[in-house]
Amino acid sequence: MAKDSLTVTDNRTGKTYEFPIEDNTIRAMDLGKITTQDEEEGLRTYDPGLVNTAACKSQITYIDGDKGILRYRGYPIEELAEHSNYLETAYLIVKGELPNQEHLDAWAHNITMHTMVHQNLEKFIDGFRYDAHPMGMLVSTIAALSTYYPDATDIFSVDSRRVQARRLIGKMPTMAAMCYRHSLGLPFVLPDNDLSYTGNFLSMMFKMTELRYEPKPVLERALDVLFILHADHEQNCSANAVRAVGSSQVDQYCAVAAATAALYGPLHGGANEAVIRMLTEIATLENIPRFIESVKAGERRLMGFGHRIYKNYDPRARIIKQVAYEVFEETGKNPLIDIAIELERIALEDEYFVTRKLYPNVDFYSGIIYQAMGFPVAMFPVLFAIPRTSGWLAQWAEMVQDEEQKITRPRQIYLGEGKRSFTPISDRPDLTIQEVRHHAYRRL
Ligand code: CMC
Repeated sequence: MAKDSLTVTDNRTGKTYEFPIEDNTIRAMDLGKITTQDEEEGLRTYDPGLVNTAACKSQITYIDGDKGILRYRGYPIEELAEHSNYLETAYLIVKGELPNQEHLDAWAHNITMHTMVHQNLEKFIDGFRYDAHPMGMLVSTIAALSTYYPDATDIFSVDSRRVQARRLIGKMPTMAAMCYRHSLGLPFVLPDNDLSYTGNFLSMMFKMTELRYEPKPVLERALDVLFILHADHEQNCSANAVRAVGSSQVDQYCAVAAATAALYGPLHGGANEAVIRMLTEIATLENIPRFIESVKAGERRLMGFGHRIYKNYDPRARIIKQVAYEVFEETGKNPLIDIAIELERIALEDEYFVTRKLYPNVDFYSGIIYQAMGFPVAMFPVLFAIPRTSGWLAQWAEMVQDEEQKITRPRQIYLGEGKRSFTPISDRPDLTIQEVRHHAYRRL
């Protein structure tokens, strides 16, 4: 019997099976070989949320959640945050290696040459209501890009893949800033290609009547570090979305729009927005114990805490906490930081959080910085989406070129009705709406 194998006995039949173990996994399809006389179809695994299922092989991001380790292409996040900038990190993530100076210059040039959007996109964004959430606008605008670049459907052409990637990374800050300015009724600001990636974004966001916007170096750098920290995070909800939607072979824009939609939710990229709302609601240090009690009673969640993978301090949160104080030197302190620090202190000593291994995640402190920098709360998930685009593109490209990948199509355990005959409306029972609701099993 091979050492790297799993022996399973099906007690229903007494049959024994041996499956190879590779990279500490067995193939789910091997389980399909386990059948009985009653069950024609093979054995399956049931894994809501894909908590213990590897859906791909990847070389992009490594996380050790117990030790609090995060690396892009092998490089620790702490070293990248200290020495790199977002565009260089995006190159690393998308192409697999750090660039030399020549390649970095060419990459930065190629991205910068794609910061402008088609004039027509202004009309598209103008069509949204004045109070539309910027994330909703962004999701739709990214999807709309696919109509401007029909060549993007050629997903198996490396040239097409590359140009769409440059377009998307280049245009994300432009579209994000347009969504923000639309909500304020401000004119759109054209990209300033002499500025850095983050400096140009700040200019497109905040430029008013001055001839040239001069980004504050501390804020420009802080945003750059935040962008590095958010660039990828292996198989999270939105990475899974970009892969699942992309597996139908739709173009990059639609796949990235789907990922952005996934990021919008409060359990994913919307969490930093939820953190600010939570801290604002807590308002004073005296209110914290009562708030913690309501979390422990299951009435609500402590937003910005907990992670599917990290069962230790999220290394990104540690870096962001440091950056916060550098930003406050420039902007003045965001008073919410005191509530956040005290909340963290109490939570990390409380048995409820300790036993569940709930620590601050990336979203706990990022919103406080964004708010101090002048970004409105609704823009926070947008600020997550801009840098995550490089991660999504890398995940998508890996999936498209992986010969083992198929269209994503999970199985289900059917628990519904057996076959029944259609009943004419006159013969159906006369139920009250309460009775209908009572019978309903998790329906709309
Ligand atoms: N506050 C209170 N209790 C929590 C929290 C929280 N933030 N997170 C998890 N728990 C409890 C949960 O109630 C459960 O307790 P019990 O075993 O008694 O039922 C236990 O911890 C395990 O939770 P889970 O929901 O099974 O864990 P999960 O891996 O499915 O969820 C999570 C991960 C991030 C969705 C969750 O921790 C959460 O909702 N956190 C708050 C939202 C948040 O900050 N999201 C940002 C995630 S990081 C950014 C990103 O990558 O998108």
